[in-house]
Amino acid sequence: MDTLKPENLPGHLAVIMDGNGRWAKKRMLRRIVGHQKGVETVRVIVDECSRLGIRYLTLFAFSAENWLRPKTEVKALMALLKKYVRDSTARMMQNDIRFNVIGKRADLPADVNVELDAAIQKTAGNRGMLLTLALSYGGRQEIVSAAKKLAIEVQAGRLDPEAIDERLFTESLFTGGIPEPDLLIRTSGEMRISNFLLWQLAYAELYFTEVNWPDFDKNQLAIAFRNYQARERRFGMTSDQLRQGQE
Ligand code: FPP
Repeated sequence: MDTLKPENLPGHLAVIMDGNGRWAKKRMLRRIVGHQKGVETVRVIVDECSRLGIRYLTLFAFSAENWLRPKTEVKALMALLKKYVRDSTARMMQNDIRFNVIGKRADLPADVNVELDAAIQKTAGNRGMLLTLALSYGGRQEIVSAAKKLAIEVQAGRLDPEAIDERLFTESLFTGGIPEPDLLIRTSGEMRISNFLLWQLAYAELYFTEVNWPDFDKNQLAIAFRNYQARERRFGMTSDQLRQGQE
């Protein structure tokens, strides 16, 4: 099997971690067991991305729509999240990982927010991979929130509407300061974006795999990266233009 070219790994990898429930159902287990196994996969993939030198890893851990799930499942997911963040901070320090959260933090339980803040503060000085969890996150909500932020600046007389361009809009999103994803992986065979990073994924390569998130591992990640490395990213240009640019 070809080895990975370290110079052509995605700078920013985004992941829709899907299929925990189906993984559990197939094994006649409760959905929460699937989520527990999913957290183990999170640990493995965070470590591996950091080891490979990925600069930005963004994981869709809880969508704005996930609040509609049965109360017991939401509660269990929040408890898992809290435990993951608490248990992982030491490892993040070891691996120089900086921790970050995007989404509507006000919706999250207060005790979860306390853990998130502690991890963000503790890892703020790290310079390795930026690990971002999207929590109570929705792409459309994020775009509306950016528009609102800019409208408030205009209304206050601090911003000329003519100065609003793609760059400024991008910086007004929750992901301001983070380059856009180069690769999006979605597990479990669904081929949708599901309101994840709608603006930021404009030019990302999309990779879908049938593997459920609890079964996704280092080997599956390497397969996704190899697939990415075999692609030609043209950003609207022709192949000839790209080749000339490289010469
Ligand atoms: C999708 O499985 C998974 C989620 C709802 C979010 C991902 C959550 C985890 C991996 C666990 C918690 C995360 C962290 C970072 C601690 P699903 O329930 O939609 O699966 P299904 O589509 O098969 O039902």
